[in-house]
Amino acid sequence: MKAIIRTKAGKEFSTMKVQEIEPSFPEKEQVQIKMTSSRINPVDMDLMKGFPTLKYKTPQIGGIDGAGVIIGLGAGVDNYNIGDEVFFYRKFTDIGTWAEKICISVHDIALIPENITVQQAGGIALPLLTAYEGLLSLKPKSGERILIHGAGGGVGFQAVQLADAMGLKVIANASERDIEKLKKVGVAHIINYKKEDFSVVLKDNVPDYIFDIIGKDTLIKSIELSPRKVVSVAFPDTTKMNKTGVQLPWYLKIMMQLMNRKFIKSAKKHQVELIGQVTGANGENLRAAAQLIENKSYFVPKSKTIRVSEIATQGLYKSDIGKVILF
Ligand SMILES: NC(=O)c1ccc[n+]([C@@H]2O[C@H](COP(=O)([O-])OP(=O)(O)OC[C@H]3O[C@@H](n4cnc5c(N)ncnc54)[C@H](OP(=O)(O)O)[C@@H]3O)[C@@H](O)[C@H]2O)c1
Repeated sequence: MKAIIRTKAGKEFSTMKVQEIEPSFPEKEQVQIKMTSSRINPVDMDLMKGFPTLKYKTPQIGGIDGAGVIIGLGAGVDNYNIGDEVFFYRKFTDIGTWAEKICISVHDIALIPENITVQQAGGIALPLLTAYEGLLSLKPKSGERILIHGAGGGVGFQAVQLADAMGLKVIANASERDIEKLKKVGVAHIINYKKEDFSVVLKDNVPDYIFDIIGKDTLIKSIELSPRKVVSVAFPDTTKMNKTGVQLPWYLKIMMQLMNRKFIKSAKKHQVELIGQVTGANGENLRAAAQLIENKSYFVPKSKTIRVSEIATQGLYKSDIGKVILF
C-alpha cells in the first residue's frame, strides 16, 4: 500500500516521500481502517521536523488525524462493525494516518455524524476535537458571550459552530476572506482582524470568554481585556502535555514555562483565568463534539484537497498545511 513516510527529520516537510509499505493488522482493541482523508495540520509539520523525546518508528508514517471506513476488527472490539465510517485523532506517540490502511486504538475513534461525509470528516477531526475541548474547559453557560480569534480557520471555524450549538453568543475575529462563511453560519458580530483591533472594538462590552488560537500579542491583548476566562491553544500548558503521550524533557519544560511567564503574569494582574489547551487523542470527546454538530445547520468548510499521487510527484510543503489529503 502507499504511505507518506518521514524519511528523516527535515525542515518543513522536505523529507516526506510516498513509498510502498506493507499494511499492518489490528491488534487487541484496535480497528483497521481504509483511509479516506486526513487534514494536513500545523502540528504535522512540527512533528515531522522532529520532536524531542519522541521515538519515531521505521518506517514512520506521517499524519495524526483523519477519517475512513473500518475494514478489520481486533480482539475485544465489540462496539464497532466492519463498514462503519469513523474519524479520529491520535497521540504524538502514535503518529501515522497518511497511508491507505492503518490500525488505530478503538478508544481514539468516533462515528461520523450523518450530516457530513467521510471525506469531509477527515478534514475536521483535530480542529473539531481541539475546539470542543477548548470550549469545554471554559464551562460556559448558554447565553454567555465568547470572542473567537482565527474564527474562519481550522480550529476557529469549528469553535464558532460548537459554541453556537452550546447556546453561546459568538463574536468572530477573522480574516476578510472568511467573513462570508461566518455570516453563512449566523455569526452576527464579525471583526476583520486586519482592519479593526478587537481590543478597541470590545473594550466597553467585554465578552465573558475568549478562545485564542493566535498567541503572542493577540493573547496578551485578550488577557488585558479582562474577560472571565481565556483559553488558548497557543499557551502550551506543560502539565497537560502527557495528553499527547509525550513526557517533556526538563529543559523543554523550563523553556515553555519561560515562554508562558508573561501570559501568566498578565492573567494574574487582570484576574483572568488562563487555560492552556492541549489536545490529546480522545474518542469520547470526539463523539460528544460530533453529536453537537449533528444538525442541519452545521456547515462544512470547503478545503483544498491534494491526492497522494500528487504528493508523490510534487512533494509536500508548508504551503500544503490546511489541505486535505485524499487516499
Ligand atoms: N494546543 C493544541 O492542542 C492545538 C491543537 C490544534 C491546533 N493548534 C494550533 O492552533 C493554531 C491554529 O490552527 P488551525 O489549524 O486553526 O490554523 P488555520 O486553519 O491556519 O487558522 C488560523 C486562522 O487565524 C487567522 N488569523 C491569523 N492571524 C490572526 C489574528 N491576528 N487575529 C485573528 N485571526 C487571525 C488566519 O487568517 P489568515 O490566514 O487570513 O491570516 C486563519 O484563518 C496552530 O498554531 C496550531 O498549531 C493547537
